[in-house]
Amino acid sequence: MSSSPVQSEAVASPADHSQFLVEQWECWEAMTRNYGSPCYGYDAETIEKRATELLSVLSPAPQRRLFYSFKANPLPSVAQELKSLGCEAELTSVGEIGAAKAAGCELGRALYGGPGKGVSEYRHAIQSGLIHFSVESLLSLRNLSTAAEAEGRTVEALLRMNPDSPPKAKLAMSGVASQFGFEEDELLTRGQTIREAAGKFVTLTGLHLYWGTQIDDTETLLNCFEKTASLAVQVAKSVGFPLRAINFGGGFAWPYAHSGSGSGLQELQGGLELLSGASALQNVEWWFESGRYLVASSGTLLTRVMELKESKGRLFLLLDTGIHHLGGMSGLGRIPRFSVDLITDPGKSNDDSKMVVDVVGQLCTPLDCIAKRIEIPRVGPGDLLAIPNVGAYGATASVGAFLSRPAPAEIVYRGEQVLAVHRLRTGHEEWTNLS
Ligand SMILES: Cc1ncc(COP(=O)(O)O)c(C=O)c1O
Repeated sequence: MSSSPVQSEAVASPADHSQFLVEQWECWEAMTRNYGSPCYGYDAETIEKRATELLSVLSPAPQRRLFYSFKANPLPSVAQELKSLGCEAELTSVGEIGAAKAAGCELGRALYGGPGKGVSEYRHAIQSGLIHFSVESLLSLRNLSTAAEAEGRTVEALLRMNPDSPPKAKLAMSGVASQFGFEEDELLTRGQTIREAAGKFVTLTGLHLYWGTQIDDTETLLNCFEKTASLAVQVAKSVGFPLRAINFGGGFAWPYAHSGSGSGLQELQGGLELLSGASALQNVEWWFESGRYLVASSGTLLTRVMELKESKGRLFLLLDTGIHHLGGMSGLGRIPRFSVDLITDPGKSNDDSKMVVDVVGQLCTPLDCIAKRIEIPRVGPGDLLAIPNVGAYGATASVGAFLSRPAPAEIVYRGEQVLAVHRLRTGHEEWTNLS
């Protein structure tokens, strides 16, 4: 196995590290003074670091392409950073097409997928310049074919598979009953029906298999990729098309709203080197997708303490943020409940008195709780806190419209320089203004 070019970060001495935190804190304080609290900060240097690492780990893959999954964070300035580093766009909606255009992505190289797509959505995507599609069912394939014919254009499609068995992932999206992808059996036995659905306007080019998210064990990831390669060869043969591309998905892990980092990907590189030797995979493009690995670590949610309140023997830390700004899907039971880490002002950490709190927000629901019984340094109203590793599935995955509170500003910065500031629109438009 070859050694990885991924370098571990230079280890700062404890003194350097605390100095770094103090400087970072000053920058965050300035951000909330200028753009209000709560707000999200995204560090462009961190995005660059993660993208460089992942591109390097995937480099043994022949004709490798890495797609950025806009669902993790559709902010155009975040996507623009990734585009400048060589990532392409993985899109699933009209809104994400708009964001990719705003980021200057080349839509002719982007990938458009997702379940339940109708003819009009496909026509919009084709009109926008998309050529590559991941298709999840026979009806979607027919709809794509109808849309391509109506637009007078030929497009290319990968068939997304839901394989027979799941991986060991925190949120397995394959190998379980779901709305995602063709069943394995369907792809291996209904070749003629699939070819007929594609018709003359859709060229079948490969297989797409997204096993799940947060796969933090390299061996599992490699097993998934090996299985994908073998299934792709079988599907191309049984459906009857030359295999030109395999989308291996991803699932590259990173903590959510907790300090820390993803598990090392170095061993993946050696495994990919071995896999790339397979003769059936020569002249095939290898595609990968990632959202959270690329952007999670860049993002910090800055929030201020509104109140400390005691109730029936428990202490509640009320913040000016909550599930409408962060991971609201968990509040709705979409993913297991999570608990955030709160970073406090490093300049004040001399006082080591601690308190145990439930961390809640301003929404009128007990679901608006982002941590239970965590121990943190003593803080009070007005103090600034930072929630780390929320650059992916933060603002965009929250119940933003609930209770009509304003969206937080989202600031992309590099060092001390602010590159862009955005804010998600909320509120109702008049029907007459809608296009
Ligand atoms: C098909 C597909 N691709 C890519 C992703 C991005 O996953 P992650 O952000 O974990 O890299 C997802 C996430 O759900 C997905 O469903």
